Amino acid sequence: MAHENTFYITTPIYYPSDKLHIGHTYCTVATDTIARYKRLRGYDVMFLTGTDEHGQKIEEKAKEAGKTPQQFVDDIVTGKGGILDLWKLMNISNDRFIRTTDDYHVISIQRIFRKMYENGDIYKGTYKGKYCTPCESFWTESQLVDGKCPDCGREVRDAEEEAYFFRLSKYAKPVQDLLETGTFLEPASRVNEMINNFIKPGLEDLCVSRTSFKWGIPVDFDPGHVVYVWVDALSNYITALGYDNDRYDDFEKYWPAVHIVGKEIVRFHSIIWPAMLMSLGLPVPKKVYGHGWLVIDGGKMSKSKGNVVDPYVLAERFGVDALRFFLLRTFPFGSDGNFTNELLISTINTDLANDLGNLVSRTTAMVEKYFGGTIPVDRDSDPADEELIRLIREAPEAYAAQMDAFQPHLALEEIFKLIQRANKYIDECAPWVLAKDEANRPRLAKVMYNLVEALRVSLISLTPFMPDSCSKALDQLGVPWGARKWDTIVYGSMPEGAIIRKGETLFPRLDAAKELAELEKLTKHPSQPKVEPVLPDVSIDEFAKCDMRVVKVLSCEAVPKSEKLLKFSLDDGSGTPRQILSGIHKFYEPEQLVGKKVAAILNLPPRKMMGLDSNGMLLSAVREVDGKEELHLMILDDAVPVGSRLC
Ligand code: MSP
Repeated sequence: MAHENTFYITTPIYYPSDKLHIGHTYCTVATDTIARYKRLRGYDVMFLTGTDEHGQKIEEKAKEAGKTPQQFVDDIVTGKGGILDLWKLMNISNDRFIRTTDDYHVISIQRIFRKMYENGDIYKGTYKGKYCTPCESFWTESQLVDGKCPDCGREVRDAEEEAYFFRLSKYAKPVQDLLETGTFLEPASRVNEMINNFIKPGLEDLCVSRTSFKWGIPVDFDPGHVVYVWVDALSNYITALGYDNDRYDDFEKYWPAVHIVGKEIVRFHSIIWPAMLMSLGLPVPKKVYGHGWLVIDGGKMSKSKGNVVDPYVLAERFGVDALRFFLLRTFPFGSDGNFTNELLISTINTDLANDLGNLVSRTTAMVEKYFGGTIPVDRDSDPADEELIRLIREAPEAYAAQMDAFQPHLALEEIFKLIQRANKYIDECAPWVLAKDEANRPRLAKVMYNLVEALRVSLISLTPFMPDSCSKALDQLGVPWGARKWDTIVYGSMPEGAIIRKGETLFPRLDAAKELAELEKLTKHPSQPKVEPVLPDVSIDEFAKCDMRVVKVLSCEAVPKSEKLLKFSLDDGSGTPRQILSGIHKFYEPEQLVGKKVAAILNLPPRKMMGLDSNGMLLSAVREVDGKEELHLMILDDAVPVGSRLC
């Protein structure tokens, strides 16, 4: 079991199938903030994140991109603007980064799989069921929702293959006990969800190998099979500590972990993963926390809707810390949150520019102006100070209780109560009035001291959320590096003689209307196609002269020595095959098109290309996206008769 005073925390490992968006960033920033908080509390923290690089979806995406799967994932993970760059930008303090294609992980997975096989928990059988390709999940008929994947709502397909199975059913009782006792899975609402939706209907054995694709870790004793991607992925949490490999030796020191995961993958982490660990004879995780989703207009972010929010754009415009803060201040961690640009801007203006930023700039400016930067030790207390001092004393404990309960938004609430109270205290004490009379100097000194204390305690507590900005503000307050520790978050611990200097404005106020308009331009439709202007009118008679028809592709081949041209033989209904050449080889392979019904204009004057006749033109939808031409042939329903006119 883990050493005392260690704390192991993980994010899910992300699929490098696309660029990550603000939802993924939310999950990693939250985990980072908790890791930083635990370090502040003096724990020896291991914070792990990484990428989940195997599986059919990645294999397919790589193919579409014309790359090998390894090249494809390398580009997304280590390429410019990729996942590593994003975490660097967001100031993520992970101690380790695991890729499931790392050699040591691959070896461990083979050993883990073999162990479970040898102890009788994995056996060979035949799988018949429904498979959701995007989720890489097999489902039974009864698990489908309206015949679709219960996780993502997409179509599933019938699947049957020889496969290995994990005896998940054997672990139903111990997993249910685990879910029902203590606080293994939080928030509590997710426990009922797991028990009612998965345990009560009966846990079936889980198919844990695939033969239908290659991009995975081969089962070493049966290499036609690759290990199911979730078995591969979940094990990252122990292989990254050195379980069953020689790369690291930290398993004893840090395991078990706290897993922070999104709500849709709670099932894997709170049912399958503990069962696997039980099978391996290892301790189960300390905790699984299932956070909510960031949604847009109440729905999922998706590329096709064009509403994916890019963290790079927001961080560049508003600063990394403002973005980190916004994500954790605004949305209760266990529930879904609706992301809007308006909310982002108003949170920055209200909490950061008005409340925190103002308190920093007013306090430092006044200490500089009235005392040349150092608060005198001759100070006069007043009953008017009591409420603020009480809050300074109570806030850290209340904050810590919320952080320990994985409620960062409530922890921030506690600190902002203090910040707001301190701003009110300035107005109540009116230091500018006190400053008019030399006799008030000791009283003024006390007021400034209390404000600095309120700020110092707030800023140290906020450091896990906004590391750079809090560090700059603590510099302005003259708090030495060595005094930015949890045990100094006590009223009265401000080092005497500190030199306080007003510095740069940390969070400038934003012009909301202007920012919104800019953001709209930058984020709303970043990859919408350029739409060409509508051409001048044609008469209906002119249009009717175009003879556009449904034709069927009888054969199709590449034209030798041409990179672009495909030669089609088409059935246009006349009984004589028609030859058309089309420059679309960049978009289609000939075999994809044979037998398809497509649209063509037939009465264009004949043309010769590469010495071959072309009698007409195939119709396509063409557009430009991000400077790249996209082309889609108009492929028609098979039921449409050949020779029909398009009008
Ligand atoms: N590869 C798996 C996890 C394996 S862990 C052993 C996976 N990857 S993912 O890239 O699809 O998602 C990673 C995490 O990002 C999940 O926790 C998921 O919930 C989170 N999010 C993805 N979109 C999100 C939002 N819109 N909002 C909040 N979190 C979201 O699942």
